Amino acid sequence: MSRTLFVTTALPYANGSFHIGHIMEYIQADIWVRSMRMAGHTVHFVGADDTHGAPIMLKAESEGITPQALVARYAAERPSYLDGFHIKFDHWHSTDSPENVVLSQDIYRKLKAADLIETRSIEQFFDPVKGMFLPDRYIKGECPKCHAKDQYGDACEKCGAVFAPTDLIEPYSSLTGAKPVLKSSEHFFFKLSDERCVAFLRDWTAGQNARGVSHLQSEVLAKTLEWLGDNDGTAKLGDWDISRDAPYFGIEIPGAPGKYFYVWLDAPVGYLASLMAYCQKIGLNYDTLLDPEGDTEQIHFIGKDIVYFHALFWPATLRFSGRKTPDQLNVHGFITVNGEKMSKSRGTGISPLRYLELGMDAEWLRYYIAAKLNSRVEDIDFNPDDFLARVNSDLIGKYINIASRAANFISKHFEGQLRYNGDEAVLDAQWLAASDEIRNHLEDREYGRAIREIMAHADTINQGFDTAQPWVLAKTLAQATDAQRDELQDICSRTLAGFKALSVMLTPILPALTERVAKALFGLDRSFVWTDAGVLPTHVAPFKHLMQRVTPEMMGQLFEPPEEAQTPPVAPGGEAIAPTITIDDFAKLDLRVAKIVACEAVEGSHKLLKLTLDVGEGTHRQVFSGIKSAYRPEDLVNRLTVLVANLAPRKMKFGISEGMVLAASHANEDTDPGIYLLDPASGATPGMRIR
Ligand code: MSP
Ligand code: ZN
Repeated sequence: MSRTLFVTTALPYANGSFHIGHIMEYIQADIWVRSMRMAGHTVHFVGADDTHGAPIMLKAESEGITPQALVARYAAERPSYLDGFHIKFDHWHSTDSPENVVLSQDIYRKLKAADLIETRSIEQFFDPVKGMFLPDRYIKGECPKCHAKDQYGDACEKCGAVFAPTDLIEPYSSLTGAKPVLKSSEHFFFKLSDERCVAFLRDWTAGQNARGVSHLQSEVLAKTLEWLGDNDGTAKLGDWDISRDAPYFGIEIPGAPGKYFYVWLDAPVGYLASLMAYCQKIGLNYDTLLDPEGDTEQIHFIGKDIVYFHALFWPATLRFSGRKTPDQLNVHGFITVNGEKMSKSRGTGISPLRYLELGMDAEWLRYYIAAKLNSRVEDIDFNPDDFLARVNSDLIGKYINIASRAANFISKHFEGQLRYNGDEAVLDAQWLAASDEIRNHLEDREYGRAIREIMAHADTINQGFDTAQPWVLAKTLAQATDAQRDELQDICSRTLAGFKALSVMLTPILPALTERVAKALFGLDRSFVWTDAGVLPTHVAPFKHLMQRVTPEMMGQLFEPPEEAQTPPVAPGGEAIAPTITIDDFAKLDLRVAKIVACEAVEGSHKLLKLTLDVGEGTHRQVFSGIKSAYRPEDLVNRLTVLVANLAPRKMKFGISEGMVLAASHANEDTDPGIYLLDPASGATPGMRIR
């Protein structure tokens, strides 16, 4: 029976490029979607950028652009990654869209009508300089437990203590350095503690969809049970604060001027917005498709860090606004690179774009990631040696090799004709059964298992070929009997039938390669579908090169250390004076008085501060400087310093640095870490040249 599937992946924050974690999630979902399509099911696979919230608003502001412009910049680069890795969304949308406004506001009105919205006055830290309430991550201060300085408002990175921002000693706003004040404001809450919600969530989280598949993986269910509290009527689940005060980049709450939906309210609604826009584009009826009583299956792929939102808030939001609830949540673990965790903003040591730019084959990565994935919430590691071995020895050495070994004999001696001794139906059935197994593993998201079985089949095919030694027969073919000729043709044909079946099985994982196999080798005018596994090929075209090997050089380039931060020039102090230069050499340097108009720490960097400088040019410049150990960002705001203004812009891991600020330091930073930023005497103004 043909199924209709609505499939999504988590919506990435629109303030950064895709990193390998995003790509891994999309590859996982894309393989699943392709396999379903090959089975003849209808799949609507959509994504979108998650655009709202304070971080995006503030990042845009620091760059002097609108949040819309910032979001558009990242949206523009999405297709090159998605196409590059053969990730085939039907539609990619944005949460900053008219569909999302309509849907989010409608959902809110329905929740309100169901008496599940409540307003309460709460006290929160407010930055009096910036004039805004501060999200926890923008409040820093001293840890109340271990007294480590500069800890974020929710937890201490030193001792691991978890607390509220109000517990911090000497809190300060990381935006302006100002001391935050407590201010009260009216907030809107979704009453998740309402017994209707709790009862529904207990039910839904432990429930199954119409196909008998659990909504949640067992380990995810265990987590939600913890969050929901013991089944003794005293729910632990608190009400959910769904509003934020202006200034905020988000969707306005109807009837509440100056109040916006918290980004996590409208973000998952973006799944629906994307589907709605897609339906409009292709002329589908959205309401019928997502009828709560209908047959469409709604399936979300997400990472383990956002389970709370998807397993509790999201189903409740949908249920109590009278909508269809999800049928399955597929949660994956995180990908690490060389065992190293990556930061949300910075990604890992490998960049997906660099991977593509180096000319590395996207399908190597798809294969490798698939080989490592299973249906559980387990982390996987990208290890370069392992990658090289699996791609070269397994994918190419075992699978691709089959075709090159057998096809040549058939082309050379049998004009491309395949012929089998014995019962073809048996062979058909054998490969159809094997491909059914693989299809089931893929549907269960047991990709690693699928690949292990595919490779075991490849081993069997290769062994059969080796045992028959067709090359011996081929050498003496001129004197061979008909039976011997038949035997050669048969072994090569069986080998190629196996290769075709394996290609069908690998199609969801290696869509481009197997399309070439289908078209160029087996003469189809389309990609494989599952039923092709049970059709023995009758013909093969001369073998063409199918896939390159990975080289250690490529892996080296992929892992080349990212360009390091510029450290300030080093002043004498045991250090020799540099070679003499002429006055003309010196005149090449354009040194300017610069005013630091904004300054912030660079997340993920121990060394860098990001400075926004006024050099009297009418626009601002962004400069990264390795002075974090010596200065608190807020202490630098409004100070003057000296900028090398004609230094070629430099692309660093965190963005482009448009110049370099000057500072004094000792030759050996380890023994004497002092760094002293240069300061023009008072009276100097931004843009003055230093000569
Ligand atoms: N914007 C939210 C999701 C909103 S969904 C309505 C968000 N964005 S994110 O960009 O931080 O993450 C997007 C997805 O990438 C999430 O599913 C997240 O778990 C996943 N990953 C982020 N880092 C990852 C790895 N290192 N490995 C695998 N997936 C990871 O959260
Ligand atoms: Zn601490």
